[in-house]
Amino acid sequence: MGEVTLTIDNKKVTASEGMTVLEAARNAGIDIPTLCYHEKLKPYTACRLCMVEIESRGRTNLDTACSYPVTANLVVRTRSANIDKIRKTILELMLAHAPDSPILQDYAKEYSANKDHFEKQPSFCILCGLCVRYCNEIKKKNAIDFIDKGVEREISFVPEIASKECWNCRECFPLCPTEYLQATFVLTEALSPSFPTGPDK
Ligand code: SF4
Ligand code: FES
Repeated sequence: MGEVTLTIDNKKVTASEGMTVLEAARNAGIDIPTLCYHEKLKPYTACRLCMVEIESRGRTNLDTACSYPVTANLVVRTRSANIDKIRKTILELMLAHAPDSPILQDYAKEYSANKDHFEKQPSFCILCGLCVRYCNEIKKKNAIDFIDKGVEREISFVPEIASKECWNCRECFPLCPTEYLQATFVLTEALSPSFPTGPDK
């Protein structure tokens, strides 16, 4: 696989063809905030927090670093007044759902996001899809999925599958940026008579 040279935040960076801007930046020690990215999963582009400015062929566009492929001579900016403003709004919207999420609180400090800016929403899930995609793409179990649509959209374990698979796995738990996943699991466990009472049952 060939290599390309691009510029990220005024720094010349060499990356392999097929890499994304996010991977190239992180390899070069340049941090870009992410919430729905996982190195083992396909790009999902749900959170938009990794938005960067990309200059190519004389035009500047905003795009998601986690999905944008590197090409020769790209010029990328990971911070600007416009990018910071977008990230601040995204974080404030997410904090309305999950004000106690540690990762959201850390990002909120960095981007001066106010957790009380938007009215609180009765959900702790920010729909990053990490749990659903990890179970589907890596574990191939589909024990958890999205249900409903629009503002009602949320995640739910599938009791028939989860009762057999989840106790001895739980690999998706630490991926959740809001810790909602653990709460849902416990709730499902409590409500479903088909759930075992502990590991290895
Ligand atoms: S429960 Fe957590 S990991 Fe799953 S989609 Fe919601 S925020 Fe993401
Ligand atoms: S990390 Fe790129 S859109 Fe979420």
